[in-house]
Amino acid sequence: SVAAACERNPFEFETSLKDLANSSNLKAVPSKFNFINQPTALTSDALPIIDFSALTADDTDRRSKAIHDLSKACQEWGFFILVNHGIPEELMNATFTATREFFSLPAAEKKQYEAKTASDPIKCGNFNVANTSNQVFTLWRDYLKLYVHPEFHCPHKPQLLREVLLEYSERCRKLARTLVEAVSDALELERNCVDEALKLDSSFQMFAANFYPPCPEPDQAIGIPPHTDPGLFTFLIHNGVAGLQIEHNGHWFNANSPRNAILVNAADQLEIFTNGRCKSVKHRAVVNNEKERISIVVANGPSGEAVVGPTSSLLRKDGRPFYRSMKYVEYVESQLTKSRVDGKSLLEQQ
Ligand code: SIN
Ligand code: FE2
Repeated sequence: SVAAACERNPFEFETSLKDLANSSNLKAVPSKFNFINQPTALTSDALPIIDFSALTADDTDRRSKAIHDLSKACQEWGFFILVNHGIPEELMNATFTATREFFSLPAAEKKQYEAKTASDPIKCGNFNVANTSNQVFTLWRDYLKLYVHPEFHCPHKPQLLREVLLEYSERCRKLARTLVEAVSDALELERNCVDEALKLDSSFQMFAANFYPPCPEPDQAIGIPPHTDPGLFTFLIHNGVAGLQIEHNGHWFNANSPRNAILVNAADQLEIFTNGRCKSVKHRAVVNNEKERISIVVANGPSGEAVVGPTSSLLRKDGRPFYRSMKYVEYVESQLTKSRVDGKSLLEQQ
């Protein structure tokens, strides 16, 4: 049955998709990748832009305005473009270089990291999901997923990967903390209740690299179907090739970002913690028939041990919790073991 097929191994690893796409003159999408029926995306240049340097500025007016803009972006769009974030361009480039080298390793080398269980701290391969009609299909994507904090896990090869990921992930954690604090300032939350609830010093942070080879029939496959992310803030950078689409007011938009900017989205735990003020918005990755696309994603969470629910001061204002509390590590695991795509996140299931 379909359910059994998914339970057996949702992470099927035969060869890498990169090799498959390169191997022959692939004219059509092999049927196991078939995923049809995507609503078309509209173009938008309207994503809010947040200047990170203003969030930490000494000038109080400048800082207040940036905090207000950030909070508005999290409430209206759930997505924004972060500029002046201070992460050096060379570090971002090195992250792409190391990631690309990993995907180019021989399949036999990568196979040792083939996922055995959903919570393996290092895993790579392809991913199978079932659609609402119970058809199993494979995503048009090779991925590498790592748990990078509080424990740091990384493949041995390529050598460069370890060094760049240690630094990139640490810098992302610092940025994420500042964003969380800025949002909580905007919502007039007490700093210590934020620290207490989310325990950001031991933030559970995941790194993911996605490699989408050119696809001969982009309408017949998908990179990542619609979903929301589990953590507080997700950071995404890409190699300049479009593919990320986000849902806004019932429409899909292409979310492009300028070079060196970081695309940030509010994720499920931020929505839960703010009792629904911030929105964790659905997004997906589509593929194209011309260029390979790489996206590098860092999911910055609360501590895995934090039991996150709506914070008390917002609860008082709203009168009731719109979400139940759950330990973050359990939230992540229940997300990871979901092998169905029904467009619903755990948020909606509550
Ligand atoms: C993701 O949602 O995790 C990645 C989307 C993308 O590759 O743009
Ligand atoms: Fe995502």
